Amino acid sequence: MHTEVFTQARSAKLYTNTPVDPAQIQALYDLAKWAPTESNTCPMRLLFIQSKDAKARLLPAIAAGNVAKVESAPVTAVVAFDTAFTEKLPVLAPHMPSPSYFDHMSAEAKAFSGYRSTHLQAGMLIAAARSMGLDCGPLAGFDRAAVDAEFFADSTWQTSFLLMLGVADTSQVYPRGPRLSFEEACQII
Ligand SMILES: Cc1cc2nc3c(=O)[nH]c(=O)nc-3n(C[C@H](O)[C@H](O)[C@H](O)COP(=O)(O)O)c2cc1C
Repeated sequence: MHTEVFTQARSAKLYTNTPVDPAQIQALYDLAKWAPTESNTCPMRLLFIQSKDAKARLLPAIAAGNVAKVESAPVTAVVAFDTAFTEKLPVLAPHMPSPSYFDHMSAEAKAFSGYRSTHLQAGMLIAAARSMGLDCGPLAGFDRAAVDAEFFADSTWQTSFLLMLGVADTSQVYPRGPRLSFEEACQII
C-alpha cells in the first residue's frame, strides 16, 4: 500500500458528480473484508445508499451542516454492526467450540467486541477506498436512531457511522488539522 493513502488522503466533504459504479463498491468490500477481527467474527455490515429514492430516505436523518455533503456524494455507506454477529461463527470460525466464549459474555461485553471489530474493519474500509483511488468522508453528524428505524427496523444491524464515497470536489478544501506527535500519543517501554 502506498503511504500517500495516509499522508495525502483527506476526509472528503464535498463530491463531484463522478459516479461510483456497483463493481467498484463490490471491489471495495472485497478488499476491506480481509481486515482482522476478533476470532474472525467479521461483524461489520454495510448498506450502500446510491439510488435517488434511498438517498431521499437518508437525508431527513442528516444534521443540517452535513446535508449538502451527503447530497453531493454519489454513494453513502451506512457502516453498521450486526448485533447477532455470533450466528455466523460456525462458518467464519468453525474451529471454535459451541457454545462459544461469546455466549458467556455479558451483553455489554459482546456488544463492545462487535463494535471494536467493526471499527477495525471500518478503518480498513477507508484505507481500501483510498487505495482504489476513491475519496471518502466519515460522518457522525446524523440521527443514528432515525437511520436504524428507516433502514434496519426488521434487522439485527445497528448503525455506527456514515461513510461518503466518491471523487472529492477539492475546490473548497480547508487546511489539514495537526495530529498528535509521537511523544504525545505513544510510549515505548
Ligand atoms: C467518526 C467520525 C465522525 C465524523 N463526523 C463528521 C461530521 O459529522 N461532519 C464532518 O464534516 N466531518 C466529520 N468527520 C470528519 C473529521 O472531521 C475528519 O476526519 C478529521 O477532521 C480529519 O480530517 P482529514 O482526514 O482531512 O485530515 C468525522 C470523522 C470521523 C472519523
